[in-house]
Formats: sequence, C-alpha cells, structure tokens
Amino acid sequence: MQLLNFFGFLLVTLCCFQLLTISESKLPKEEVEALKEITSTMGAVYWEFDNDSCDIIRVGLTREPPDESERSIVCDCSFENNTVCHVTKITLKRLSLPGALPPQLVKLPFLQVIDFAYNCLNGTIPKEWASMNLTSISLLVNRLSGEIPKHVGNITALTYLMLEANNFSGVVPPELGKLINLQTLVLSSNQLTGNLPSALAGLQNLTDFRISSNNFTGTIPDFIKNWQFLQRLEMHGSGLEGPIPSSISLLKNLLQLRISDIKSPSQVFPSLQSMTALTTLVLRNCNLSGEIPSYIWTLTNLATLDVSFNKLVGKIPEVINVKRMRYM
Ligand SMILES: *[C@@H]1O[C@H](CO)[C@@H](O)[C@H](O)[C@H]1NC(C)=O
Ligand SMILES: *[C@@H]1O[C@H](CO)[C@@H](O)[C@H](O)[C@H]1NC(C)=O
Ligand SMILES: *[C@@H]1O[C@H](CO)[C@@H](O)[C@H](O)[C@H]1NC(C)=O
Ligand SMILES: *[C@@H]1O[C@H](CO)[C@@H](O)[C@H](O)[C@H]1NC(C)=O
Ligand SMILES: *[C@@H]1O[C@H](CO)[C@@H](O)[C@H](O)[C@H]1NC(C)=O
Ligand SMILES: *[C@@H]1O[C@H](CO)[C@@H](O)[C@H](O)[C@H]1NC(C)=O
Ligand SMILES: *[C@@H]1O[C@H](CO)[C@@H](O)[C@H](O)[C@H]1NC(C)=O
Ligand SMILES: *[C@@H]1O[C@H](CO)[C@@H](O)[C@H](O)[C@H]1NC(C)=O
Ligand SMILES: *[C@@H]1O[C@H](CO)[C@@H](O)[C@H](O)[C@H]1NC(C)=O
Repeated sequence: MQLLNFFGFLLVTLCCFQLLTISESKLPKEEVEALKEITSTMGAVYWEFDNDSCDIIRVGLTREPPDESERSIVCDCSFENNTVCHVTKITLKRLSLPGALPPQLVKLPFLQVIDFAYNCLNGTIPKEWASMNLTSISLLVNRLSGEIPKHVGNITALTYLMLEANNFSGVVPPELGKLINLQTLVLSSNQLTGNLPSALAGLQNLTDFRISSNNFTGTIPDFIKNWQFLQRLEMHGSGLEGPIPSSISLLKNLLQLRISDIKSPSQVFPSLQSMTALTTLVLRNCNLSGEIPSYIWTLTNLATLDVSFNKLVGKIPEVINVKRMRYM
C-alpha cells in the first residue's frame, strides 16, 4: 500500500513537473511566425507545428511525408532560467521542396545548424544569412545556381559547408578564405571554374576538402600543404591538373586521399611515408610512372588502394603487411 502511494506520488509529481516545464518555457511568437515563413519560402504546402514541444506535426508537399524524409526542429529551452526557448537547428531533408533558400532564417537569432539536403531548392544563398551565427550549412543535392556569393565568407562561425551536387558556376570567391573555423568544405559536383583562390590557404582548421566533378583550371595548388589537420582530400575529375605537389607529403593526418583523372606531366609516385593512418588511397589516372614505393605495403590501416590507369611498373611483393585491405 505504502509502495503504491509512493508510486502515485511519483506519478503526480512527474506530471506536474512536465506541465510546469511545458507551460513555463516558450518559443517567442516571432520565431513561431518565422518558421511558417521559412517553410513557405521553401515551397512546403503543409506546415503544422506544435509550438510547445517544438515538434513538427506536418510539413512538405504531401499530407504524409516521404518515408525517407527527415523533418525536425530543435529548440534550446535553457534561456532565461528555462523559461524561453529558441530554435537552434532545422532539418528538412529529402522532401523535394521546390522553393528557394529562406532569407527569413535571420529571424531565428540562435539558429546554428541547417540541413536542407535532397530538395529542389533553386536560386542562391541569401545575403541575409551573412549576419548569422550559423555553424553548419548542408545544401547537398539541390538546384542552387549562379556564383557562390561572396557574402558566404561573412558567416565566420561556419565549421561545416556542404554545397555538393548543385549547379554553382563561376569561380570560388576568395572571401571563403575568411571562414577560418571551417573544418569541412565540400564543393563537389558543380560547374565551378577558374583557379582555387590562394586565400583558401588560410583555412588552417580544414579536415575535409572535396572538389570532385568540377571544371576548375590550373594545377593542384601547393598551398594544400598548409592544411595540416586535413583527413580527407578528394579531387576526382576536378579539372585541376598535375603534377601532384610533392609538399602533399606534409599532410600526415590524411586518412583518405583520392585524386583521379588529372592531366599531368609524367610524375613518380608522390611521397606518402608520413601518412601512416591512411585508410584509402586512390591515385587513378594520374600519369604516375615508376614503381609503387615499398612503404605502401606497410600501411597497416589501408583498406582501399586504387592506382589503376597509370604507367606503373614492377611487381607486388609476395609478403605484404596490409591486414585491413579490402579493395586493391
Ligand atoms: C502556440 O500554439 C497555441 C495553440 O495552437 C496558440 O494558442 C498560441 O498562440 C501559440 N503561441 C505562439 C507564440 O504562437
Ligand atoms: C533563476 O532561478 C533561480 C532559482 O529559481 C533564482 O534564484 C534566480 O534568481 C533566477 N534568475 C533569474 C535571472 O530569473
Ligand atoms: C552572434 O554571436 C555574437 C557573439 O557570440 C553575438 O554578439 C551576436 O549577437 C550573434 N548574432 C546573432 C544574429 O545572434
Ligand atoms: C526558381 O524556380 C522558380 C519556379 O520554378 C522559377 O520561377 C525561378 O525563376 C527559379 N529561379 C532561379 C534563379 O532559377
Ligand atoms: C560582409 O562583410 C563585409 C566586410 O566585413 C561587408 O562590407 C559586407 O557588407 C558584408 N556582406 C553582407 C551581405 O552582409
Ligand atoms: C546549370 O547551369 C548552367 C548555366 O550555368 C545551365 O546551362 C544548365 O542548364 C544548368 N543545369 C541544371 C541541371 O540546372
Ligand atoms: C581552429 O580550431 C580551434 C580548436 O578547434 C579553435 O580554437 C580555433 O579558433 C579555430 N580557428 C583557427 C583559425 O585556428
Ligand atoms: C569545362 O570547361 C571547358 C573549357 O574550359 C569547356 O569546354 C567545357 O564545356 C566545360 N564543361 C562544363 C561541364 O562546363
Ligand atoms: C603523361 O605524361 C606524358 C609525358 O610527360 C605526356 O606526354 C602525356 O600527355 C601525359 N598524359 C596525360 C593524360 O596527362
């Protein structure tokens, strides 16, 4: 009996507690309104939102969203002694939204992370975003076009910028070099042209840089050696030409090095001794000649090795120490 009472008490307390937190913390009216404008600009037909729990009830083009879609708003309710909430993250992914990127994001002053991947958003990145404190932007697979705007360089809190698989064209603005906190920069599968601006040399915190499938010109810049924390470097059919700079040997934290389809004078295998953590090495169709250096067979973490379509000679040693190798 006493136990029962105790549980009853616990239940009542828990309920009250939850009621209290719900009625006490609130999303400001302006942010509730902004979310409505944002989803409308992005082309959503449906928008129903529970402003108490920050749960999306309905969003998108159809009453029932596609199975694979991801839809969520994250609110941080720790403001002013847990009485005020602010939107910090928006995920609207795989919804085929046909609209534009919403300038109204600026009405969510605490927003940090947006993921609008796999939609059909067109136009470009609004200049209003320049004044925001966004740390992460994913626009993977959309229909954005035109030049990457200079004002993206003003979003200096950015650590993650994913623009893969859009239709951006023209040159990469040197202003991106102002994004000194950037760790991930992915520009693959666009129509970008020109040289990689030397201002990018200053992105000292980069760990992930991918520019495959573009129409860049010039040679692979020597300044990539500045990115000492780089773990992933990907340039498949980027348009850039060889040779692969010998200073690439300084990138000792690389886990994945993927370069393919470069026009290049004949060159020997680059020096990769210091990259002891490498898991993936792709140097395909890079006009490499000579032999594969023997230390390659001692890279114990190497799982993928693709050096096909070169002019390499010699043979693979009978005993090799590559326990993780899955693809060669
Ligand atoms: C939150 O939703 C309730 C019920 O739908 C509504 O009465 C209230 O005005 C809304 N609050 C804000 C700030 O929009
Ligand atoms: C926050 O709550 C605590 C405990 O309820 C109280 O002592 C404090 O004065 C409150 N602070 C503000 C800024 O309201
Ligand atoms: C961005 O952060 C800075 C400093 O952390 C702050 O002063 C500023 O008000 C923030 N901007 C917005 C739009 O919230
Ligand atoms: C974006 O799509 C809309 C509707 O299809 C169209 O009217 C508009 O011209 C497009 N804008 C750009 C920049 O392509
Ligand atoms: C970006 O910053 C520059 C200089 O800091 C400023 O002149 C420019 O107006 C800003 N752009 C936008 C769109 O806010
Ligand atoms: C991409 O943009 C170019 C112009 O820069 C245009 O000719 C082409 O049709 C666009 N492609 C797509 C898929 O929108
Ligand atoms: C790089 O990252 C470190 C730690 O994550 C941070 O303190 C620093 O401000 C970042 N930016 C630069 C330019 O080093
Ligand atoms: C890439 O650039 C070359 C010349 O610079 C041009 O002939 C080619 O059509 C471009 N390809 C694309 C897909 O834009
Ligand atoms: C490979 O190198 C040779 C000799 O430098 C050169 O003649 C040839 O054009 C190069 N091939 C490619 C695809 O760059």
